[in-house]
Amino acid sequence: MTQILITGGTGFIGRRLCTLAQRRGMAVTVLSRQPTATVQHICGDKVNVIRSLNTLASLPPIDHVINLAGEPILNGRWSTGRRQILRDSRIEFTRQLLNALSSLPTKPASFISGSAIGYYGDSGETICTETKAAGADFAATLCRDWERAAQPVGALGTRLCIVRIGVVLDPSGGSLQKMLLPFKLGLGGRIGSGQQWFSWISREDICSLIFFLLDNPALRGVFNGTAPEPVRNADFTQRLAARLHRPAIMPMPAFALKAALGEASGLLLGSQRVVPQAAQQAGFTFQHPTLDQALDAMLPAD
Ligand SMILES: NC(=O)c1ccc[n+]([C@@H]2O[C@H](COP(=O)([O-])OP(=O)(O)OC[C@H]3O[C@@H](n4cnc5c(N)ncnc54)[C@H](OP(=O)(O)O)[C@@H]3O)[C@@H](O)[C@H]2O)c1
Repeated sequence: MTQILITGGTGFIGRRLCTLAQRRGMAVTVLSRQPTATVQHICGDKVNVIRSLNTLASLPPIDHVINLAGEPILNGRWSTGRRQILRDSRIEFTRQLLNALSSLPTKPASFISGSAIGYYGDSGETICTETKAAGADFAATLCRDWERAAQPVGALGTRLCIVRIGVVLDPSGGSLQKMLLPFKLGLGGRIGSGQQWFSWISREDICSLIFFLLDNPALRGVFNGTAPEPVRNADFTQRLAARLHRPAIMPMPAFALKAALGEASGLLLGSQRVVPQAAQQAGFTFQHPTLDQALDAMLPAD
């Protein structure tokens, strides 16, 4: 039985990966800070739960690692303390994970590590493929350093794929769930000018992409985890509102977001026009390549 270790397995993406991995007949171990019963409630009662990296040595040899753990990035302003938590929970955590893997007698065949399209910074109209350089703001530096922390896994003979994840859409969590109530109440609207590019992916597709990377041992390197059709924020807003049969006439002014979130508002006001060039060149097929297809699947008509 294929053994898979997932960090961040209780999260919005990770919990769906746990379900899908078990359906694929994989034995899933989740590394979590939460009690076993809570993790099994979220991820399925067959999931093996570990609370510490020290326990890795007692597991059967791990075939694949999916590394998604990280403090939520948009839960308030980025104070100095919060920036440190955001960095430690990804960069330091990934270093410790690699350190623990290095002491195992059998190393994993593959390591899929998270990153985000925040890597590219606010990049305006530029189409971001995987070769574009990192931005210079806090989120970009966080992603760059998170990716760098994963790189040494190659020295263990383990294949590394990094996924720069876009805004993951599913009504059960993440950004879309947060938007649904105001939009249903007719209180939705564009953010700032609405001209910024919004690079999204359905949760089903980000999970499929991660399994595609696991299934194809020849693949390695960086993969943008976004749908092939990024849209402008105003376009997204109109299409979501239309889908819900509501108006979208309550714009969120940039100054209000900046006042509330400080530099973190850049994640919502900045523009990232990201395309999944590497995934498509590798032959990955999206179930929801367009926003309308994704919204149709996620928000079926009443
Ligand atoms: N969802 C998106 O739209 C999106 C977009 C781009 C990038 N990403 C990145 O992809 C990863 C997974 O996303 P997600 O939406 O599934 O995240 P999520 O729902 O916030 O879950 C993240 C997981 O990380 C663990 N975690 C949280 N804070 C931690 C801390 N301080 N130290 C150690 N572990 C911590 C938690 O596991 P336990 O509580 O079980 O320990 C949690 O289940 C995240 O790193 C996120 O930044 C997500």
